[in-house]
Amino acid sequence: MSTIYQTLKQDHDRHRKLLSTIADTSGDSKERRTAWDTFYHDVSAHAAAEEETFYSKLIATEDGQPEGRHSVAEHKELDDMMEELNETDFSSPAWLTKFKDLKHRYEHHMEEEEEDVFPAAKKTVGKDGNEKIGAAFEKRKAAEIDLVEEKAEEKLEE
Ligand SMILES: [Fe+2]
Ligand SMILES: [Fe+2]
Repeated sequence: MSTIYQTLKQDHDRHRKLLSTIADTSGDSKERRTAWDTFYHDVSAHAAAEEETFYSKLIATEDGQPEGRHSVAEHKELDDMMEELNETDFSSPAWLTKFKDLKHRYEHHMEEEEEDVFPAAKKTVGKDGNEKIGAAFEKRKAAEIDLVEEKAEEKLEE
């Protein structure tokens, strides 16, 4: 079984590939819509499950709280940017400009998680629970994938 850190890293690597794929698309094409749709659903579910199963544990520790809060705040920013992209005309140059900003920020976020948060969490969250949290993450993520659209609609109504 994989540890939470391996599982999260695998997701991040998939997201990095999707980011490059999307950056290479142009206009309102099938390629852009398909890759964006995969990215949007996978990243939304990843962030939600990451908060529910991993950051909740980290935030409960004294040392992990500042880092946990920082990442969750970035999730909210990324979430808002993704919704903005959903609302932007896919064929307009503005779409790609906004996407490049998101790409830059999300790459930075993943790098920060892998290089700063995970090593720190290994000390505070503890090694024993790693596989258990990994399994909980995968279960939650599968459930969150089905909730992406619903949550986005709720947000629009707010
Ligand atoms: Fe994250
Ligand atoms: Fe992540």
